[in-house]
Amino acid sequence: MLKILTAFFLLSLFFAACEKEGNHRLLESRALELGTQISDSTQKVLAGNLKKAIAEGGVFHAIEYCNLEAMPITRKMEEKYGVKIKRSSLKVRNPQDRPDENELSLLRHFDSLATAGAPMTPAIRWLDDDHLLYARPIMLNKGLCLSCHGEVGSAVSDSLYAFIRSKYPEDRATGYKLNDFRGMWSIVFDEDQLEKAD
Ligand code: HEC
Repeated sequence: MLKILTAFFLLSLFFAACEKEGNHRLLESRALELGTQISDSTQKVLAGNLKKAIAEGGVFHAIEYCNLEAMPITRKMEEKYGVKIKRSSLKVRNPQDRPDENELSLLRHFDSLATAGAPMTPAIRWLDDDHLLYARPIMLNKGLCLSCHGEVGSAVSDSLYAFIRSKYPEDRATGYKLNDFRGMWSIVFDEDQLEKAD
């Protein structure tokens, strides 16, 4: 009798573990899907505003504009989607974009993939029992990016760089070449919200 009871007990533990595992997988695939949508649409808004600012007043004006508006635009998208959104990098321009420990390990992971020429696809990590981090690599994939993140003295003129430094005294986000790994989107979901999402 005791053996049968023990077997039932172990079996129920096993099924509970499987159910939890299955639910985790489902939440991960939702986070993957939503993270991609949210980073796409935030990117679209940021890129649209950047292009408009350049067209209206040139690169200096665009730096000024990004300095004032990139964060508020991101905060608005956070409110819209109810998540935390950040763009981070191993070499940041804005100190507020500095990676935390989890982000740093993912940035290093992406950086080594980029060095090896391996495919760069989004990654998901559980931060704790209730929070999931979606991370997606950002490549410097347009010539336009170089005018503010390229080599100082060539792609980025000395006078523009002096202006960038006046806004971002600790800037490290230059010296990039086309198609370099630049950074990543970091989006944090909480589990309740993903449970509700369809
Ligand atoms: C007009 C100059 C300009 C151009 C062009 C530009 N950026 Fe930036 N970039 C900035 C500024 C300024 C910031 C800091 C924004 C802030 O204060 O939040 C920034 C921040 C970033 C960040 C956030 C991490 C960090 O370093 O703070 C990423 C990622 C990034 N840029 C990628 C790109 C990519 C990719 C392109 C091309 C599609 C691009 N940028 C084009 C000026 C530019």
